[in-house]
Amino acid sequence: MRHFAAALALALLPSLPAQAEQSAQVREGARLYAEACALCHGADGRRGAGYQTPIWGQGAQIRRFETAMGLFEYNQMLMPFDDPSRLTDEQKWAITAYMLANHGAMPPTAELRPEQAPAIRIR
Ligand code: HEC
Repeated sequence: MRHFAAALALALLPSLPAQAEQSAQVREGARLYAEACALCHGADGRRGAGYQTPIWGQGAQIRRFETAMGLFEYNQMLMPFDDPSRLTDEQKWAITAYMLANHGAMPPTAELRPEQAPAIRIR
């Protein structure tokens, strides 16, 4: 029975890329997201205690930010909602990269550089 539960838990894990397929920045973003965002937005970005709409992937409004720069600026100014100044810009770039990788707007193996961000479009 216990084996069955373990197998079931494995099968239900979100199909995010394995660690080795993520850049150090995206991996750091995943860690920070879990710590600072997941409570309100859910571990998988679909919904959480603070917000009921997905923030990436199907059903998300993410394309309204238009570019990676737009999303970064929103995160920089307003998130985490309870204390936006808690994280540094570098940490917010990492979280933004993680979100964009999950949305398919950049490869999870890439690093998101501020100077490239205005050219990375979100669809
Ligand atoms: C305390 C709860 C809370 C935490 C923690 C939090 N958020 Fe939010 N988030 C919200 C709420 C509430 C909104 C809606 C804000 C509004 O409509 O003005 C929101 C909106 C957003 C949006 C816009 C979503 C959309 O549909 O347009 C993004 C992107 C976002 N959050 C990212 C983050 C990230 C990244 C973090 C972690 C760094 C984070 N949030 C942490 C509560 C939270």
